[in-house]
Amino acid sequence: MESNAAPMAVSYAITLVAGQSDRARAREAAGMAAQTGMAQTGTGPDARQFHDGAGPETVITVSGLVKRYGDVEAVRGIDFTVARGETFGFLGPNGAGKSTTIKILCTLANATAGTAIVAGHDAATERDAVRRNIGLVFQDTTLDTYLTAEQNLRFHAELYGVPRAAVLPRMRQVLEMVGLWDRKDSLVSTYSGGMQRRLEIARGLLHAPHVLFLDEPTVGLDPQTRSSIWAYINDLKKREDITIFLTTHYMDEAEHCDRIAIIDHGKIVAIDTPEALKASIGKDRVQIHTADDQRAIAELTAKFGIEAAVHDGAVTFSVASGEQFVPRLFTEFSVPIQSVSVSRPSLDDVFMSYTGSTIRDAEGGAGNEFMRNMAKMRSGGRR
Ligand SMILES: Nc1ncnc2c1ncn2[C@@H]1O[C@H](COP(=O)(O)OP(=O)(O)O)[C@@H](O)[C@H]1O
Ligand SMILES: [Mg+2]
Repeated sequence: MESNAAPMAVSYAITLVAGQSDRARAREAAGMAAQTGMAQTGTGPDARQFHDGAGPETVITVSGLVKRYGDVEAVRGIDFTVARGETFGFLGPNGAGKSTTIKILCTLANATAGTAIVAGHDAATERDAVRRNIGLVFQDTTLDTYLTAEQNLRFHAELYGVPRAAVLPRMRQVLEMVGLWDRKDSLVSTYSGGMQRRLEIARGLLHAPHVLFLDEPTVGLDPQTRSSIWAYINDLKKREDITIFLTTHYMDEAEHCDRIAIIDHGKIVAIDTPEALKASIGKDRVQIHTADDQRAIAELTAKFGIEAAVHDGAVTFSVASGEQFVPRLFTEFSVPIQSVSVSRPSLDDVFMSYTGSTIRDAEGGAGNEFMRNMAKMRSGGRR
């Protein structure tokens, strides 16, 4: 893993030093970044400003973005904006185009068509300016595991031109945030997977970026570590003026986002707050076990105008509000009811309603988890 680190970091350094298309602008921006770094340490996060001209409210604007790899159209014309301070998530199955999109936004891949503006700069033509404004935490670790945490952070600070005097206080701030300050002198190779991810988040934040990009930040981590990473991310949002763009295929993780875009086969199929998306498909699912299912189905139609059918051995139907409907069922229904379960629409239901398959199905080969979720729904468990 660590062998990846240096080349990527070095390519950043080369780009930052040599510039790409506009050396003068790069030099100017580098100077401004250095000044901002200095100011941040002295005045704290609240005093931060967009240091080079980004509009204050819209931090990411993506228009007509397309990415083709030969015959594969990984991203097929997407449009969205992300507001300052938002936590915005891309939710979709493996292969949906999430990483491709995030790489274009981070200047690590070129779009085939369309534009991406990040922190006021074009990701295609103003790469240096975009890079100075963003932090990256990607799935594959780019930490140097044979160095200590502190050495990793100092290397990063150097690459990003954080002024020398600002490095130690800022390092302490970010390491304390992720609970690793007292382990800063340990070799990263002695860290657990969760600690390494936390260190990567700290490193991504070291140069006080305006936008933090997280590609599947908790994939492969155990549930406890995943929830602690989320505690850090939520805490971070309280402390820093930062916009977060993340990708995930975990439904529960998407619940942490202010807004999510559901992406499938390179297209955004729905975009809104998690609550609004669930509300958009509207209905609670009710399942009842009865003494006579056919009579129950007929009576549901006759008395309540509800279409029901037997699924998974239970009479199944949808109503706007399960809590309000179930008591009526007990008082007004003539068929004896043995058990009832109500489940709210989940983001998986949202995905299903927009794409016709579950995220697990769309990933293929993950049927077991899908079956477990179904079993959970059947038993009335819901999140
Ligand atoms: N470098 C590449 N060359 C060819 N195809 C790629 C490359 N990167 C991604 N793809 C393809 O693009 C599609 C989207 O991939 P990706 O953006 O990584 O999806 P996700 O991150 O949502 O799992 C997939 O079909 C993938 O195989
Ligand atoms: Mg990916």
